[in-house]
Amino acid sequence: MSIESLFSSHKIADLCVKNRFVCSATHLGTSYPGGFPTEHQFKFYGKLAENDVGLIITENTLVDGYGSCDRNKIFSNCMMDDDSYMESWKKIVDEVHKYGSKIFIQLSHPGIQESIRFRHPLAPSPVQLRPDGVIPDELTLEQIKSLIEKFVDACIRSKKIGFDGVQLHSAHGYLISNFISPFTNKRRDKYGGNNRNRARFLTDILEKVKPLTGNDFPIITKLNCCDVEGGLDIDQFVEIAGHYIRKGIDAIEVSGGTTANITCISSKNIKSEEDEAYFLKYSKLLKENFAIPLILVGGLRSPNIMSKIIANNQADFISMSRPFISEPALISRWKSGDHGKAKCISCNLCLDELMKGKDVHCVVNEQILKSKKSRNIP
Ligand SMILES: Cc1cc2nc3c(=O)[nH]c(=O)nc-3n(C[C@H](O)[C@H](O)[C@H](O)COP(=O)(O)O)c2cc1C
Repeated sequence: MSIESLFSSHKIADLCVKNRFVCSATHLGTSYPGGFPTEHQFKFYGKLAENDVGLIITENTLVDGYGSCDRNKIFSNCMMDDDSYMESWKKIVDEVHKYGSKIFIQLSHPGIQESIRFRHPLAPSPVQLRPDGVIPDELTLEQIKSLIEKFVDACIRSKKIGFDGVQLHSAHGYLISNFISPFTNKRRDKYGGNNRNRARFLTDILEKVKPLTGNDFPIITKLNCCDVEGGLDIDQFVEIAGHYIRKGIDAIEVSGGTTANITCISSKNIKSEEDEAYFLKYSKLLKENFAIPLILVGGLRSPNIMSKIIANNQADFISMSRPFISEPALISRWKSGDHGKAKCISCNLCLDELMKGKDVHCVVNEQILKSKKSRNIP
């Protein structure tokens, strides 16, 4: 199968993406104190765009001012809970657009995983998931309503900045995935119980935001297909995807796991082509059931595997994270005719350092650290 198919354009709602390559959300650990993006992010996303990544999804950016961001520390999440962040993001968006690539912002709330440095975590139910044993407080209906508004406001703000769309983070143990998983959601009100109710937090956001943002501004999601034992199963995953689709979600990126079990999200075991695309069976299943653009992430490394997935209509876009840390010019290399697989060795040094609150290191790409010295706001 020719890898040319990977360089064909494809649409998400009314938005045309120039090829099938997506940079999956990747927290670089370098946002400026206060939740601003830095020159490092400006350069990283700019370099990916310059090297032909069709769609860049930013690192997870919090909609709630009392999230895991510790505004007085060097290490923090990016924030999008007020207008002060707009100017610096606009510079990044303009830089990416210079090269004809598209950029979505990933909007999130840490939910059960919130840093206890700032306040006690809030989640749908007081359930233990975290390795440190911290049990979150249960969100009240008033708090849920207010968080839905925060997501809606952040979507509108992102459109005003010039982003091409947003990705709502419903994976990896963040708040929206805490709602959809029966392991973390034990509520007995309209946000808990059956699949429709557990999907409601996100469908409520969609109902409010879609009429305000329009079809030229896709709202997509990164959705867990599995999480922990006793959590989301494959039938629930498909049904929840269906609820999202009926309420107008424009594309789904299929992922799985929680940060308590990070190697489920970012597997270290990618030794051969058989180990690649470890969530493929889930995206295949969605393709069989729904007509919606699908983005597949998780261990994709070889262009011949990727082109087979596209040719067999098992996904529409190929998303990668660690390969872009180790090789920001990967897509240019493939475009120039060198089709050797991505150089990333999936050692997870990048993630291990990030989880310790340090800068992202890479054994393959030493440059990534050198360029990180700058924490200026663009
Ligand atoms: C350093 C690092 C930071 C990440 N940050 C995010 C993030 O902010 N949001 C998210 O949804 N996934 C995040 N991920 C997960 C990736 O987007 C991706 O789903 C996962 O690594 C599997 O893809 P890969 O095999 O291409 O790395 C991160 C992964 C890494 C390695």
